[in-house]
Amino acid sequence: MPSLAIQGMQWGDEGKGKITDYFASHADLVVRTQGGNNAGHSIEHQGKRYALRLLPSGVFQPHVVNVIADGVVVNPAALLEEMDLLESEGISSFHLLLSSRASILMPYHIALDAAREQALGNAKIGTTGRGIGPCYEDRASRVGLRLGDLLVESYLKERLSEALAIKNRELAAFGAKTYTVEELLAWLEPARKRLSSYIIDTSEYLSHALEEGKKVLFEGAQGAMLCLTHGTYPYVTSSSPLCTAIPLNAGLPLTAVNHAIGITKVYCTRVGAGPFPSEIEGELAQKIRDAGHEYGTVTKRPRRIGWLDIPELRYVHRITGVKDSALMLLDVLGSVDEIRLCTGYTLHGKAIDTMPSTIPEVSEIVPTYLSMPSWKGDISHCKTYEELPLEARNYIEKVEELSGLSFVIISVGADRDATIVRKDIF
Ligand code: IMP
Repeated sequence: MPSLAIQGMQWGDEGKGKITDYFASHADLVVRTQGGNNAGHSIEHQGKRYALRLLPSGVFQPHVVNVIADGVVVNPAALLEEMDLLESEGISSFHLLLSSRASILMPYHIALDAAREQALGNAKIGTTGRGIGPCYEDRASRVGLRLGDLLVESYLKERLSEALAIKNRELAAFGAKTYTVEELLAWLEPARKRLSSYIIDTSEYLSHALEEGKKVLFEGAQGAMLCLTHGTYPYVTSSSPLCTAIPLNAGLPLTAVNHAIGITKVYCTRVGAGPFPSEIEGELAQKIRDAGHEYGTVTKRPRRIGWLDIPELRYVHRITGVKDSALMLLDVLGSVDEIRLCTGYTLHGKAIDTMPSTIPEVSEIVPTYLSMPSWKGDISHCKTYEELPLEARNYIEKVEELSGLSFVIISVGADRDATIVRKDIF
């Protein structure tokens, strides 16, 4: 398959970093298509753990061209900081291309994100606080700046003045600090100097690369249930993490994405507010949280924990068409005595088998569970499917049968080689 998309199947943090890194070594290009530095991918490289936020995961592979495509929102200061950090660790020979159509995330977006969350009080979304929503709002309301604007100084100044005429009113209404054109131009100067040479029409570049038969990996950020349109709105991010949005976000035809692999964690997590049908609390949740190191890569917030949710997976399978999947963190469930699997929901006394479309409905569903015994113990040494304990195989096969997914990769530990590959798909 010349191109492959990575699809988070839940609420993000499914372990996409490890699988992306695995496929990145087989790719010629690794492409980010949406989101910004709200994402956090943890990657092990030469015994060290790195948290990438904006840079695509191919930066550790010197042969890979890394592309930040049209649908991304880029905080240039955060990008430069990430590049400097890698450089200080001796990782400096990566190839990077930035889309001239990608949005620039400005300091006032971060201020507005904080002001809005505060104004919402108890109804707050629990955003990552990185300014993602306000930046996408500006894109939609056509007052956003784009990376391509950095290339012509006079145009940049003009666009910034137009934007500030609106943004300063909003900031003032929230009692937040307003900005002058000069101070923001000064803030953008390091980006103009250091990033301009990377900025091109990446849509055109990617079209040619695909025509030449290059292998392209479309790296996912966030998860399907955080999709602006199809997730648990309004408790979602402001872009679409669905693989079906990739052609639009990269400026490519529908046929550009040949295949997608879903990344499914053996339990669910979510950070921030919003309904979470199979949520568990208390001691058991803490046990899983600790065993799975479930603390935010970006914000360090403890993640909420829930059992694997089959109707949720079926829903994402239906709207994305994703069938092949990687099952992540299987080893973590070896730390509990009994595993529960949410197999269905009851809504107002009626059984339903998909995620409802409105918050009042999602808040009222009652999950039904199937109980399964755990294998109780370490499985990180298992190299083949057959080596897994019978209880683990029974669990995997039950999930496959109920969800419609097919687990082609099973991750049994954080290390690169703690991975069972059942089918080669890239
Ligand atoms: P925002 O993307 O910062 O606006 O946050 C909106 C919602 O998406 C919040 O619930 C965040 O916790 C969640 N979110 C955003 N990015 C990620 C991610 O990479 N992993 C998990 N949750 C995320």
